[in-house]
Amino acid sequence: KRKIIIDTDPGIDDTYAIIAALSYAGFDVLGITVVAGNVGLEPCVNNALGIVKLMDADCKVYPGAEGSLNQLREESGYELKTTVHGESGLGSVTLTPDLTKKSDTHAVDFILETVKAHPDEVEIISLGPMTNLALAIEKDRNTMKQVKTIWSMGGGVHLGNRTPVAEFNYWFDPEAVKETYDLGEDIEINMIGLDITHQTQITLDDLFFLRTECGEIGQILSRIAEHYQDMYWKFIKQTGVIIHDLVAVMTAIDPTLTDKFDILVGVNLQIETEGICKGQTVVQKHQSLFAEAGLAKNANVYMDIDPIAFKKAFMKLCFP
Ligand code: BDR
Ligand code: CA
Repeated sequence: KRKIIIDTDPGIDDTYAIIAALSYAGFDVLGITVVAGNVGLEPCVNNALGIVKLMDADCKVYPGAEGSLNQLREESGYELKTTVHGESGLGSVTLTPDLTKKSDTHAVDFILETVKAHPDEVEIISLGPMTNLALAIEKDRNTMKQVKTIWSMGGGVHLGNRTPVAEFNYWFDPEAVKETYDLGEDIEINMIGLDITHQTQITLDDLFFLRTECGEIGQILSRIAEHYQDMYWKFIKQTGVIIHDLVAVMTAIDPTLTDKFDILVGVNLQIETEGICKGQTVVQKHQSLFAEAGLAKNANVYMDIDPIAFKKAFMKLCFP
């Protein structure tokens, strides 16, 4: 089995993604590390504990960073504001947390201990801001060089959602993204960004099917998506929802869902950390050009997915 750590800020779409990862027999989910992002750390941790209970999963939840690198370093403290996922992070739904699954170990220490125990074997699926990953790199870079792969939901080559040019996870903590992709010169980092997630959609019909035909879990997934539906309508006048984080997990499970010819392999990815372009990813494909500028290959960027195969794979996996 593949050894997996899920680093996440649940989050409506994170919930779909975690449920899929926990349902997949090929994954050994060693732990769920939590980061603030969609909502504050505490509600995100509670949501993760609720998902673990719902799935009766045999893994623990490790609380991590309470804000972005910059927010953590600001003496004045910070406030997280979010509307996209509702106050609880799951729209109007509150899950009952399994408090016995909450670990006292900090997410960063859990990541480092786990990678040390299984060098070159651990894959991290990153579904939120990259703060925990950056803190782990700052604490012990050599150990983080022994991560096998990072699958990252974030960024966009041609699209933004938090701003016209920046995706939310990368916008929230661009410094952490920079530090993580610097490690991409040594390890494999696969970006699953908005270019690919926006090719998929869970439609109103799909949500109806989840609610009526897919048992308790289907009902919960459909209910938590209601808030997302309102947001999608408000922002982009679309009735279906894009479950970004699920696309990252399904791609990690089966990369053949993506069109192999449109993975940008061995490209250079840089991120803007300030100003109006804060959080924008700049992906350069041509090595001859970026090498000239002293830049190295640090990423693979997935650009296309078969949306029908994606949806079928998710439904078959979670509701066989
Ligand atoms: C990403 O931002 C969050 O709102 C979602 O959970 C997802 O990880 C999409 O931009
Ligand atoms: Ca997320």
